[in-house]
Amino acid sequence: MNILILTGAGISAESGIPTFRDANGLWEGHPVEQVATPQGFARDPSLVHAFYNTRRRHLLSPDIRPNPAHIALAQWEQELLAPSADHPADDFLIVTQNIDDLHVQAGSRNVLPMHGELLKAQCLESGKVFAWRDDLTVDTPHPEAPEDDSKRGWLRPYVVWFGEVPLGLDRIEKAAARADLFLAIGTSGLVYPAAGIVQCTPPKCRKIEINLADTPTSPAFNEHRHGPAGIEVPKLIAELRSNSQ
Ligand code: OAD
Repeated sequence: MNILILTGAGISAESGIPTFRDANGLWEGHPVEQVATPQGFARDPSLVHAFYNTRRRHLLSPDIRPNPAHIALAQWEQELLAPSADHPADDFLIVTQNIDDLHVQAGSRNVLPMHGELLKAQCLESGKVFAWRDDLTVDTPHPEAPEDDSKRGWLRPYVVWFGEVPLGLDRIEKAAARADLFLAIGTSGLVYPAAGIVQCTPPKCRKIEINLADTPTSPAFNEHRHGPAGIEVPKLIAELRSNSQ
């Protein structure tokens, strides 16, 4: 059975990471254009760095840990696939829109972070990606040439901004086209192309949405589980496990 799982901010909410869309359409007090577009970064890189620095520090604080939803998904993957097996055919794939690393912290192995990763930085010139846990500033030395002052400030957060192409789209499309089971967990169904993945799954695919409430993409799913991911995901996986025995 080929399983594809799409996760969004709602799966990390119970770990203490706020979801994106609050009542005013702001991200932690900032208009989206200011902190999540290439134009916003070009206009005020210090502000954008400060925004992601705050989020990176928060993610690295000891209080932020995977919750039962992340853990249940990781355990399920481990049960279904031998520990040493890799996933050449993406028969169990988590596509996450989240830039936190909570799926990986929980032990999930086949994770595709389509909107980038907060714990990475990217060179603006070469596109090379570096593991990154510190603050970034417009003066950050380049990791490959720390002595070269002309290369200071060449790093950007490795996150996909509005107007940029999400990562791994070919791979996601292929996994969707052969999925037998598709779960969408804690995502508002407002941001494309992620919100359109459900439409790329075949008619025979069982499609289940887990969210606190319905979303604009709910009609594309066969089943809906309303409730917090930390409760609904382990419950659903237990059900799927017992049905397959
Ligand atoms: P949103 O903040 O748009 O939506 C979060 C969804 O999770 C909502 O539908 C909530 O109802 C649901 N939710 C909240 N708490 C939940 C819980 N405990 N259990 C289950 N569901 C819960 O987040 P995303 O859909 O992830 O993109 O946003 C998609 C993209 O929009 C983000 O990846 C980001 C943003 O623009 C980029 O940065 C490119």
